[in-house]
Amino acid sequence: MKALLARSYGPLDQLEIGEAPQPVPGPGQLLVRLEAAAVNPVDVALVTGRLRAELPVRHPFIPGVDVSGVVEAVGEGVTGFAVGDAVIAWNGVPSGAFAEYTLVQANGSGAVRPGGLDARHGAALPTGALTASALLDEAGLTPGSTLLVVGATGGLGGYAVQLAKRAGATVLATGRAGDSDYLRHLGADEAIDYNTEDVTARVRARAPDGADVVIDVARAGPALAASAAAAKPGGLVVSPLGGPPSFDRDVTARYTGTTTPPGRLAELAGLAATGALRAEIGAEYPFAEARQALTGFAGRHIRGKVVITF
Ligand SMILES: NC(=O)c1ccc[n+]([C@@H]2O[C@H](COP(=O)([O-])OP(=O)(O)OC[C@H]3O[C@@H](n4cnc5c(N)ncnc54)[C@H](OP(=O)(O)O)[C@@H]3O)[C@@H](O)[C@H]2O)c1
Repeated sequence: MKALLARSYGPLDQLEIGEAPQPVPGPGQLLVRLEAAAVNPVDVALVTGRLRAELPVRHPFIPGVDVSGVVEAVGEGVTGFAVGDAVIAWNGVPSGAFAEYTLVQANGSGAVRPGGLDARHGAALPTGALTASALLDEAGLTPGSTLLVVGATGGLGGYAVQLAKRAGATVLATGRAGDSDYLRHLGADEAIDYNTEDVTARVRARAPDGADVVIDVARAGPALAASAAAAKPGGLVVSPLGGPPSFDRDVTARYTGTTTPPGRLAELAGLAATGALRAEIGAEYPFAEARQALTGFAGRHIRGKVVITF
């Protein structure tokens, strides 16, 4: 089969489409023929080697964690999926979605793609929506809560804005100057230009004590202190990137990553199929240009997800 290959750790320019053995599904696994896949920051990190200590990969390495396609074969013991089913899945590491075929763990990380959700928008869902959902679990929003989302135009933040609105929160969202309409279209009550505006002052103009929760998907480590400054005393900062265990004010830090609770991806896919959750596609590339999809993702301002079609 054809696959996007990294022969070693190194820059994205090294990626090339080459031949790789078609995988064979083991117990509990699905063999999926790709129709679409989506690009995530982790793909870039796994190719370049930025995460080699925590998440080493074997070479030649096929990146790609967001899968959308059709079940070609099922492994022993698989239930709930049949050959010919349209599915979406989150592959995590070992990845492998940027190829004609990939293996998916049926339990937990895969879901049947409902009618009403096409393959491209299905691909745009797994990492972004699952991780946003995990962040929202930590945020514990209630109707009337005020939430600031930092990094709201990206593949993860856009879902956080939408899911928070569904939870009844007032949502303030950061983006660039030209992103205001996009952020409002996602449901944000206010759009804040993080380049030119004082984000904390804008939050305090709306919620004088600060936001109940700040979900920050853009900054890591000590830089998260800026998010703590926008949260109210007793409030929360929630991040998928990690940072200090505590802040120098009465604000709690909570860190989480992509999780696949049973039924969660199917639930999110159901919302997307009815239009209650929008999977935004900011750029699209044919598989023949998969390398450009990754370099474009890493180098450009994208609203929503970058999708590769097969
Ligand atoms: N732990 C996990 O399991 C997990 C899972 C998923 C994602 N993540 C991490 O979460 C982060 C976001 O993921 P993503 O898919 O949304 O990435 P993305 O699509 O690249 O989006 C990143 C967003 O952050 C914004 N941003 C960058 N620098 C900023 C700054 N200084 N202030 C405010 N906003 C800024 C970007 O806006 P501009 O385009 O204007 O720069 C963009 O909206 C990534 O670092 C990813 O690795 C972790």
